[in-house]
Amino acid sequence: MSGSRRTFLRQVTGAALTAAATRTVLAADGPSCLTPGDGAKRVGLATVGIGGQGTGDTEAALKVPGVELVGVADVYDGRLVRAREVFCPGLVTTRDYRELLARKDVDAVIVATPDHWHAQVAIEAMEAGKDVYVEKPMVHAIEEGQKLVDAQKRTGRICQVGSQRVSSLVYRKAKQLLAAGAIGPLNLVEAWWVRNSAIGAWQYTIPADASPATVDWSRFLGSAPQRAFDATRLFRWRNYSDYGTGVAGDLFVHLFSGLHFVTGAVGPTRVMATGGLRHWKDGRDANDVLLGLFEYPKTAAHPEFTLSLKVDFADGAGESEGFRFVGPDGVLSIGWDGVTLQKQAKDAAPGYTIDTFPKSAQEAFLKDYKAKYPDAKSELRAVTEERFEKPDGYSDHDEHLANFIDAVRTRKPVVEDALFGFRAAGPALLCNKSAAERRPIDWNPETLKAV
Ligand SMILES: NC(=O)c1ccc[n+]([C@@H]2O[C@H](COP(=O)([O-])OP(=O)(O)OC[C@H]3O[C@@H](n4cnc5c(N)ncnc54)[C@H](O)[C@@H]3O)[C@@H](O)[C@H]2O)c1
Repeated sequence: MSGSRRTFLRQVTGAALTAAATRTVLAADGPSCLTPGDGAKRVGLATVGIGGQGTGDTEAALKVPGVELVGVADVYDGRLVRAREVFCPGLVTTRDYRELLARKDVDAVIVATPDHWHAQVAIEAMEAGKDVYVEKPMVHAIEEGQKLVDAQKRTGRICQVGSQRVSSLVYRKAKQLLAAGAIGPLNLVEAWWVRNSAIGAWQYTIPADASPATVDWSRFLGSAPQRAFDATRLFRWRNYSDYGTGVAGDLFVHLFSGLHFVTGAVGPTRVMATGGLRHWKDGRDANDVLLGLFEYPKTAAHPEFTLSLKVDFADGAGESEGFRFVGPDGVLSIGWDGVTLQKQAKDAAPGYTIDTFPKSAQEAFLKDYKAKYPDAKSELRAVTEERFEKPDGYSDHDEHLANFIDAVRTRKPVVEDALFGFRAAGPALLCNKSAAERRPIDWNPETLKAV
């Protein structure tokens, strides 16, 4: 094990152990809405949208001592029933999230609804004096971004966006390596996310009892265009731009958050995207293939570099994900489990291309070359590889929620606040516009406006 890897593991073990110890307490006591606090100041929590991610976010928050889940809101009754099964029978459950915002015993709100509700619920919650953990992408439409940034400033509440890579020790390690010059000046970043399954392509299961009786349909629609009840649109909302933000808002946004955290970048100034609906022709209007290219000009934090992103939901070779930071001295690759640093040995000799020169010229060149570079080798230069792995059981998601609860208690600002969240969501959402309008779009990450 290299010295740096040992240090890396030492740094993370503490956090991983704390999470494990808290989990044990919960299991021993059975489902409880209050995580035993060890004297920690109680944080009353409510979750709006208790589907897949709302449940995961809430479970992660409840691993932090002193957190009490007061209530959950959802527009599908089945999810309210399930929340009482998963968390505790005494939970307040409601179809109307405003009932939770009105409660004095709620300090913090998780917003894990479909994207078209994020800004509205988050702003109303902050206006009601609550701190907010709002899922990514922070907003459904570019126009909502500044409003959320302003609301955070005006109310002075904590607002953390839910791209957990920003709290990940894996991304922290990549940030350290990049800052230490491990790959030299960054020139290119590429990332991809490919899937090849129905669930991967968002064809989620629709419950048999879904009907206008069990679903508050108009509350699901909210500000989206009015239409008759359609269970597919609720349970597979990601596939429709009225509620979701396509693969760019759903997946590219994580890559922007991770990239901005690692590099200190605030955003690209030019966005170009192209794609289409190639395979999942199930009535959706979201693309299943999308490529994006982005220009990041030089700033005090990083040199000028180019970013390329790809999502493909019909990749016949299976599912994979990758993130590569490329520089002349090495490549940093980030995966689920850790960071890999690859470096090619340096060779002072430049090599030569002399075959097409006259024989005498070749001989004269070689004589000089060998004198100048006596150690020059003809074989390819070796590539070395160093791995930095996260410890077993480590979860960046748990750490992200723990950071949120810590900020609620200490009032210390979070890294992934509304401004950070919009600087990730903005260029992601512009990809959809660029692909639809078949043109590059300029973005100003300082004024937060598309040009
Ligand atoms: N950070 C991550 O890694 C990650 C992973 C998955 C999802 N997400 C985000 O979490 C959010 C939810 O995604 P999901 O996969 O859990 O979807 P989901 O469909 O499983 O859950 C969304 C829930 O919101 C409910 N809902 C809809 N309108 C509502 C309203 N007005 N009030 C209250 N509840 C309402 C739905 O009934 C559903 O139960 C999305 O924004 C998504 O992008 C983040």
